[in-house]
Amino acid sequence: MGFFDVFKKNIPFEYPLKWDIHNHLAFGIDDGAPDLDTAIAMAEFFVSLGYSKVTVTPHIMGDFYKNTKQSISTPIGILKESLLIKKIPLQIEFAAEYYVDESLFGKVQQKEELLTFMGNKVLIETAFMSAPRQFEQLVFDLLAQGYTPVFAHPERYIYLQNNYSLVETLVQSGLQFQINLLSFSGYYSKESKKLAEWLVDKGYYSFLGTDAHSLKQLVALNEVYRLKIFNKINWHQVQNYYV
Ligand SMILES: [Fe+2]
Repeated sequence: MGFFDVFKKNIPFEYPLKWDIHNHLAFGIDDGAPDLDTAIAMAEFFVSLGYSKVTVTPHIMGDFYKNTKQSISTPIGILKESLLIKKIPLQIEFAAEYYVDESLFGKVQQKEELLTFMGNKVLIETAFMSAPRQFEQLVFDLLAQGYTPVFAHPERYIYLQNNYSLVETLVQSGLQFQINLLSFSGYYSKESKKLAEWLVDKGYYSFLGTDAHSLKQLVALNEVYRLKIFNKINWHQVQNYYV
């Protein structure tokens, strides 16, 4: 049975992705799950979507979200224990979503150890309106230190929606792209949907993530896989396809 036959036959749908590498399940430390109950409900929903593993990626942002390995590990430890007690079969690990700012430049300069997933991958995000200064230099420095920088939801940045050639420059710089699944349904904006589709057409993607901040966003994912765009995805190049 082919992947899309499930729609024709009304068979309960299971998502093709097993591992989410971008979400905000760590409760109470960023703009994601506000409390343990919400995090548990979100974890249950991940399981119902077919996921078996999530890498939780709380924001680390200069003055705003001063998260550390320590501050993240506390809610993650509590969440893991709760899932065990409730027999919710979802593996949990954590990394972070680093905002590109002076603080991150400092960390890289000091060769501070960064929180990674899949060994050496560092999830990064930028401001929405304009590209950070020396962005390509940062990518270069991360690569030189043995990290693989993964760019969270490139399709959502306004400075890229107006400048597809900069997108190509960033691909060439060695950044790997993580597209948000919700972008394909136009959840964020028409422009981000358009850029997400273009990234798929060009083959510029290595990860597909939920970036789930809330249960509402996970529920909205139910509609996403019914979109035709998924016929075009080359699942073999999606590195979080399997656990
Ligand atoms: Fe995020």
